[in-house]
Amino acid sequence: MRKIFIDACFGKETPYTPVWMMRQAGRYLPEYMEIRKKIGNFLDMTRNPEIVAEITLQPIRRLDVDAAILFSDILNLPMEMGLPLRFEKGIGPIFDKKISKIEDIVSLDNDAYNKISYVYEGIKQIKKELPPEKALIGFCGSPWTVSTYMVEGRGSKQYAKIKKMVYADSETLHKLLEKVTEQTTKYLLKQIESGADAVMVFDSWGGALERDKFFEFSWDYMRKIAKDIKEKYSSVPIILFSKGVGLYMDGMDGEFDVLGVDWNTPIEYALKIFKDNYTLQGNMDPTRLYNKEATKEAVEKIAKIMKGHRHIFNLGHGILPDVPVENAKYFVDLCKEITRR
Ligand code: CP3
Repeated sequence: MRKIFIDACFGKETPYTPVWMMRQAGRYLPEYMEIRKKIGNFLDMTRNPEIVAEITLQPIRRLDVDAAILFSDILNLPMEMGLPLRFEKGIGPIFDKKISKIEDIVSLDNDAYNKISYVYEGIKQIKKELPPEKALIGFCGSPWTVSTYMVEGRGSKQYAKIKKMVYADSETLHKLLEKVTEQTTKYLLKQIESGADAVMVFDSWGGALERDKFFEFSWDYMRKIAKDIKEKYSSVPIILFSKGVGLYMDGMDGEFDVLGVDWNTPIEYALKIFKDNYTLQGNMDPTRLYNKEATKEAVEKIAKIMKGHRHIFNLGHGILPDVPVENAKYFVDLCKEITRR
């Protein structure tokens, strides 16, 4: 059966513009919170294929979005590479063991992607239950964004440690990025072989880099991942999403299908640059979901600009935990309704 989301990724005609939301599997859903309360620990949730499948499917059931995204985290891979991970309330993810020198990189596990069997099992489980007209998106973090956590040890405002490497020890940083890229590519290939219909690379911290450094330390590695996957699986769409780099868009090209547009970047600006060479995904400010009128205003504006062009509706970053579910449902319904052809 044809999947509207996959058709839209390739710029084919669809009955309406498909829609899903970044971070759609998460805390704004009471059914997610129920499982979280029961299991207690976020990472344990990601390591249990049954739970992975259940949480992935929740937004499909509740919101009728056109794509499900695997419930997992971009930091499971570096965790399996040998850096113990914990999530602390009010802080977020923490690696107590960090990467600072070449010996740390050499000791990372080259077989990590094989150890994430809970993800592959989860994907197989999801595919058994996912309606055939819906697509499953597998994902990973970009090597730059993942490396940022591996070097800083946690979320950062200044990125002082990894940016010191950019300017003072780029050779070591490239070694780390190469290693993460290799693991990431194999990880995505196995997600596809397990049943993922599309894959997405999240580069949340691309915007921490000035233009030339962004291309050298982030984009080129994302592009390589896309190229290596395309070589093997040309019919699986690849989505690249970098946050905070709207002004660098004119330099972005490569063998991918969909470009995520964050909420800082006017989508008409992205359209002017890319024309219909790629499908644009996005880009409503997620905080507009606090208010239905504000949501409607943005959806109408984006629909008007993107009419007749390659587009997938989404937010310009992840949905926030205190957004009313009702408003999320309103957004999804409205996107479909006003673009129905
Ligand atoms: O989109 C989805 O619904 C699929 C699952 C998904 C999660 N994280 C689940 C999650 C995806 C695609 C991610 C990506 C991710 N994780 C990114 C890139 C995208 C982005 O938002 O910029 C990053 C930077 C991370 C790292 C991460 N994971 C942080 C910083 C945090 C804590 C901050 C927060 O939002 O609470 C997480 C935890 C996390 N990942 C949760 C979920 C549902 C919340 C866990 C919980 O408290 O229950």
